[in-house]
Amino acid sequence: MTSSRVYGVLASFTSVEGIIEAAKAVKEAGLTKWDCHTPFPVHGLDKAMGVKMTKLPWIVLGCGLSGLALAIWLQWWTNAVDYPFIISGKPLWSIPANVPIMFELTVLFSALSTFFGMWMLNRLPRWYHPLFSVPSFRRATSDRFFIVVEADDPAYQAPEIKALFEAQGAATVEVVEETITNTDWPPKIKFAAWAAAGLLMLPPAFVVKAKFSTSETPRLHLVPDMDHQPKFKAQAASSLFADGRAMRMPIDGTVARGELVANEALHTGFLGGEYVTEFPLPVDEFLMERGRERFNIYCTACHGVSGLGDGMVNKRAQEIVSPLWVPPLSLHAETVISQPPGQLFQTISKGVRNMPGYAQQIPVRDRWAIVLYLKALQRSQSGSLDDVPLQLRNTIR
Ligand code: HEC
Repeated sequence: MTSSRVYGVLASFTSVEGIIEAAKAVKEAGLTKWDCHTPFPVHGLDKAMGVKMTKLPWIVLGCGLSGLALAIWLQWWTNAVDYPFIISGKPLWSIPANVPIMFELTVLFSALSTFFGMWMLNRLPRWYHPLFSVPSFRRATSDRFFIVVEADDPAYQAPEIKALFEAQGAATVEVVEETITNTDWPPKIKFAAWAAAGLLMLPPAFVVKAKFSTSETPRLHLVPDMDHQPKFKAQAASSLFADGRAMRMPIDGTVARGELVANEALHTGFLGGEYVTEFPLPVDEFLMERGRERFNIYCTACHGVSGLGDGMVNKRAQEIVSPLWVPPLSLHAETVISQPPGQLFQTISKGVRNMPGYAQQIPVRDRWAIVLYLKALQRSQSGSLDDVPLQLRNTIR
């Protein structure tokens, strides 16, 4: 089924000057729904037509700011509200850590709104235009300048517009008819489209069902990789052994490589049930230097560089008023100063009350090095002039 209606009045001009003058005249006549088609960009035509500056920059600005706001809200809500999780004592919400996403979403929203905003403002995509059916309009791509006033224009009066174009010296003036074809889809295609749309709802429906129901069967495992293997995993059960455990205890007397405790004093800090009072390894400058380095790495976070208990972790805990935090003791307290090296070694190895042990991270020698440095650190707080070698005293003021 087709019908036709008038699309508008189309006039062609042979020169740039001609179309510019005609555009000015049309604008002055107070018409609003009209357009020009030229083989190449004509300078000054926008001005003659009174085309306004595009609104696109404002759309982009609005969308860019929305992206920024979304990024800020998303990160604040996920990190500081919905799932607050302290990582390395850092604040739950701060600007610097979140700048990359803020930047990304601003750029993303701006770019997308530029692209799609341009399409929308230009009413694209447009597969067909009524002027395409006018044979002479083909010359719009070679040597003719066209101007068309649409019949939708409130001030549209075909005879007057024709007269206006003729007065401007138009080469041709014609009324363009637009054929309107029935765009309804054939019933079969319509049915197929509805059926396809219905089928498309199935996957999301399954997802929703899975989200709100429980199941006895294991979940679908599309790509098994090497996830299922005939082997025992740590902590798993096994019917192979009488005690039902897959993990076996080492055979009595087994010693793993590097774990032979041949020297009781060195490895435990004890000797015959007493804390050792002497260092069970040679003490020299290098051990002291090593101790300073290891102490600064492992202990200062809580105890502070000088051992007063003012490390970063402690500062942060005070700041957020953590109810679980036990402030570390000052390592210069009388109760700590009086401890023999073996006891300090024990504290580092096994931890004490609320302090965790560090045997896993720090090897035996390094633990002794830390004890040595700790002793020197304590000594540094209670030194007197007599501790300074004679030949150095003159240099002190
Ligand atoms: C995670 C924080 C933290 C770190 C790291 C840490 N400590 Fe402690 N330390 C504590 C706390 C807390 C206490 C007090 C424990 C209590 O009183 O419950 C403590 C107590 C001590 C004491 C006193 C023990 C006593 O008998 O009173 C010594 C000595 C000590 N730490 C040495 C060290 C050394 C050496 C290191 C580095 C290897 C270290 N700590 C690393 C938190 C820490």
